[in-house]
Amino acid sequence: MSDYHHGLRPESRIVHPPVEEVTGSRPLGVPLHQGHIFAFPDSDALADAFAGPEGAFHYSRFGNPTVRSLERAVADLEGGSGALAASSGMGVISTVLLALLRSGAHVIAQRSLYGGTFATFSDLADRWGVDVTLVGGDDPEEVRAALRPTTRLLYLETVSNPTARIADLPALIGVARAAGVLSVVDNTFPTPLLCRPIEHGADIVIHSATKYLGGHSDVMAGLAVFADAELHHRVWHHAVEQGATLDPFAAWLTLRGMQTLGLRIRRHNETALDLAGRLAAHPAVAAVHHPGLPGHPDHELARRLLPDGQGGVFAVDLAGGREAARTFVGAVRLASLAPSLGGVHTLVLHPASTSHRQLSDEELTAAGIGPGTVRIAAGIEHPEDIRADLEQALAGL
Ligand SMILES: Cc1ncc(COP(=O)(O)O)c(C=O)c1O
Repeated sequence: MSDYHHGLRPESRIVHPPVEEVTGSRPLGVPLHQGHIFAFPDSDALADAFAGPEGAFHYSRFGNPTVRSLERAVADLEGGSGALAASSGMGVISTVLLALLRSGAHVIAQRSLYGGTFATFSDLADRWGVDVTLVGGDDPEEVRAALRPTTRLLYLETVSNPTARIADLPALIGVARAAGVLSVVDNTFPTPLLCRPIEHGADIVIHSATKYLGGHSDVMAGLAVFADAELHHRVWHHAVEQGATLDPFAAWLTLRGMQTLGLRIRRHNETALDLAGRLAAHPAVAAVHHPGLPGHPDHELARRLLPDGQGGVFAVDLAGGREAARTFVGAVRLASLAPSLGGVHTLVLHPASTSHRQLSDEELTAAGIGPGTVRIAAGIEHPEDIRADLEQALAGL
């Protein structure tokens, strides 16, 4: 402390405690910088800090060291030039859409998108005059036919919820790229350990880090990774005004969770594939939707796009229909009936009455969801305990 500080009264000194700097060694864990203001020696240095995402830290809505560590870690995993973190997956999705679209713009979006994303597009269409054409995830000709001079974005999800359909990223993105249209891919389900959309031409990759990246159901966060620095800067300038900023503690929790991503993903993959194979032979199960199984319509594509594993989420159609599905999700004991996925806990869900309840019967059928469909998100508990739990719940049907 300087002589000046020593000369201050106690009430003033306690507002300015010593801030320790680490010198001579380095912290192995990422430090949590919860404070959101940073002081500068002079006005010019502070003015420079406002310039872009790489500027000096000054106010955490513009950038924070802990949040920046997370952004750099995820950009590195996805092979992007930079990333932008936000307070949830929906926070980052709306930030990106509001930054890149304007009234009169046209978007081509996959039909089977996450409900919140779908609702955002509907809202943009109703209230902002953004025109949206819905397409499947497998036919590049459908994307080509949908293109217009006003088309600004192609919006896809690598793996759809809950039936794990795989989007043909290289084929669909190739059409958009040739027409000068940006591609945005939500890669929440596979994570960059199983698929890196930028390698297939995507311009922006989205994550709900609330799911596998965080991995412990204790943090909400979203990230957008940019292939190109200019696009990153463009969206960042909007993001700092929109303010869906990620809290540093949430970034810290996400980083901490991500350190075990490799171990967790391997376990999620193995358990889900094993369970899917076993449940396919169960008399109470009419069909299983797992892209790692030969009967899945995207099995071949999955082997190409996700060769190291197809993820921890799959769906089963129960032979007893809606009643059987509702009885089953109420009868599990180790697994929990809960929304979300991608954490350490095994979760089950009846999409027709919960996550997809707004869809009509025709829309449910188009999304491959029947009245007896149950989504299973495999956790990291012992696979035999999960299997025994699901089987005891099936036995009661
Ligand atoms: C594929 C996908 N994208 C985005 C989101 C939204 O993420 P969040 O709940 O973190 O806002 C979800 C949430 O379930 C999701 O499944």
